[in-house]
Amino acid sequence: MCDNVDVKHNEVFDSVAGIEIENTRHALVENNYAHNNTAGILVFITPGLPIKTAYDIIVRNNFVVNNNTPNFGAPGSIVSKVPVGVGIVVMAADDVKIEGNIITGNQTAGIVITDLAFVTDVASDTESEPNPDNIQILDNLMFNNGADPVAEVKAAMLTKFKTTGPDILANVGSAQEPDNCILNAERYTSFGIGKWSKCDITTTADVKTYLLPADAAPREIETDADRVARLYKGICAGCHAYNLRMIGPPAMAIQAQYYDNPQGIADYLANPVKKRPDFPPMPSQGHLSEELRLKVAEYMLCLSPKKLEAVAATQGQVAKCEKPSN
Ligand code: HEC
Repeated sequence: MCDNVDVKHNEVFDSVAGIEIENTRHALVENNYAHNNTAGILVFITPGLPIKTAYDIIVRNNFVVNNNTPNFGAPGSIVSKVPVGVGIVVMAADDVKIEGNIITGNQTAGIVITDLAFVTDVASDTESEPNPDNIQILDNLMFNNGADPVAEVKAAMLTKFKTTGPDILANVGSAQEPDNCILNAERYTSFGIGKWSKCDITTTADVKTYLLPADAAPREIETDADRVARLYKGICAGCHAYNLRMIGPPAMAIQAQYYDNPQGIADYLANPVKKRPDFPPMPSQGHLSEELRLKVAEYMLCLSPKKLEAVAATQGQVAKCEKPSN
């Protein structure tokens, strides 16, 4: 849930997701070596987070190699559904440019362009637009991808009388639309890009960085409510989505448990104890003042997909919450 980030010169391996650009805008992912993950580089929207979009992203000059590690994500978590053997996944994100990468040895496919249904079987967030729009694949080097694709991809390929996966897979209707484009499509094996147009740019070289200039104005935090909303979105929501499991339990489940007891949450934040055997421990938030802990607890109890934005927009007191209906 970031704006203006560069992710450069990293080596990432032995993970489920090598690099994730998630609900993030204006990101440059460059000169990284992503190997031996379940999937190398993912650009996507997770539904149920306060930031609803992912767009204006460049994935450039990376090595994306042999990402065939079996998925060991916690069962039920969103990453546990990432299919093994994909180099780059673009799911639901918009305005993504992919250029100059070396993508090889990924056993399902080199690049997958898809909508949210790819990894989320949960009811998704009506405020997140689920389709990938304006994806631009410029020149990349791709070879030896798709040697042993996952069953769904194998089934799709069989409709083309093939059993191996492609360099590029656009797997659903919307991902196959001509607002997506490619250069030199004939260089790759592909599925579903027949209607794509030809890109009218050939390089992203004019973009050197997406970081804000060093003399950018500091962010103004005007009210307590604003501070609390930023605290929740910036820290808690990274682990607690609204209605699906990420690192921590969904906020919705916590609301049911604590609906009349914000103080209980405030106390837990200062001193979290291990409760759920199938979750990691929660890191202490004891650096927050007593007052902030209580306010952020109330904020969490007030969340609902719609209310979330409304509360964030409120400049006054955080609303009192009713008991959530089941
Ligand atoms: C790095 C990830 C992470 C962050 C950041 C995080 N949590 Fe958690 N949270 C967890 C995990 C994991 C659990 C489950 C722990 C367990 O059950 O042992 C949890 C559990 C909880 C619970 C349940 C407590 C209970 O009694 O069952 C509450 C409430 C909670 N978090 C609130 C928050 C709030 C508010 C914030 C922000 C100030 C926050 N969390 C930040 C990961 C996180």
